[in-house]
Amino acid sequence: MAPVAPAAPAPVGKPAPAAQAVGAPLTDPAARRGEYIASAAGCLGCHTEAKDKAVAYAGGRALKTPFGTFYGPNITPHPAAGIGKWSEVDFARALREGLRPDGAHYFPAFPYPSFARISEADLRDLWAYLRALPPSARQNQAHDLGFAFNLRFLVRFWKWLYFTPGRFTPDPKRNATVNRGDYLVNVLGHCGECHTPRNFLGGPKRARHLAGTPKGKSDGGVSNLTPTNLKKWDDAELTGFLQSGMTADGDVTGERMGEVVSNTTSRLSAQDLASMIAYLRALPPIADAP
Ligand code: HEC
Ligand code: HEC
Repeated sequence: MAPVAPAAPAPVGKPAPAAQAVGAPLTDPAARRGEYIASAAGCLGCHTEAKDKAVAYAGGRALKTPFGTFYGPNITPHPAAGIGKWSEVDFARALREGLRPDGAHYFPAFPYPSFARISEADLRDLWAYLRALPPSARQNQAHDLGFAFNLRFLVRFWKWLYFTPGRFTPDPKRNATVNRGDYLVNVLGHCGECHTPRNFLGGPKRARHLAGTPKGKSDGGVSNLTPTNLKKWDDAELTGFLQSGMTADGDVTGERMGEVVSNTTSRLSAQDLASMIAYLRALPPIADAP
């Protein structure tokens, strides 16, 4: 899966469709497809406050990390409070390169290291969907980060170490189902943002891709998604878990995975869930961390 040369710049966005009333059905087919991509990518959770009647995508969600608390920004098309003045090119640069329209670097708490390899078609549909959201005037708040981690220009070095831009390229040695699952798990689903252990700089430990964190899930760690752990479930049990957040014997998953289930995996088509599972089954088994 070698990174490929960046494609020609995306065309500048076509005029935004008129904003939709909250909950109104999306009329533009591209926006409808984009809604599905947004679910597969879990955009909602990080960009919506965790409270009743929060405005979807209006930002304000507190995201606690070892480096401090980030607040997901407003990504509705409001011209001042959101990203209403952005072009489609700005949006593509944010997801593909982790760059703000003014050229500053985004913190990787925004999982662009995963999203960077999104397909051209999915990126365009996602943009159509965000343009169709009702604009919200909710103001962004500043992140609350520890010293040194608050220095945006240092993200440049982080990216130099850990970020490889490029496109997703299917592996010809695998079937289409497994390749689709790879794309859903690693690009849109960004499952490795939690399931791949990190070093002290927040860089992923590639040799332990998706192998979970050392603590073990009983004390705040994250499960191993390679066959070493998931072989305990058959496909029906795993599908059931990803749809409901519950195991076959009625255990309910924790808060963090519970949100992934409600915003992402429970909204995927049966075919996409099956692809995700086929990909996880094809991973090399990695032993649980000691
Ligand atoms: C794990 C949480 C998380 C997820 C999932 C996530 N984001 Fe974000 N996003 C953030 C954070 C945090 C920032 C702010 C980064 C910074 O300030 O450097 C951000 C920034 C952005 C920005 C830049 C906004 C601005 O005003 O500069 C856009 C656009 C964006 N995200 C779109 C998306 C889309 C589209 C998705 C789904 C494909 C998504 N995000 C998923 C956390 C997330
Ligand atoms: C925000 C962090 C986060 C993200 C993103 C995330 N997970 Fe999880 N996941 C967890 C945590 C934490 C657990 C352990 C849950 C528990 O202890 O109840 C878990 C548990 C699981 C389990 C259950 C394993 C077991 O043995 O109990 C599966 C399966 C799973 N995740 C799959 C996924 C997939 C597929 C994705 C991507 C679509 C994903 N996760 C994305 C945090 C995350």
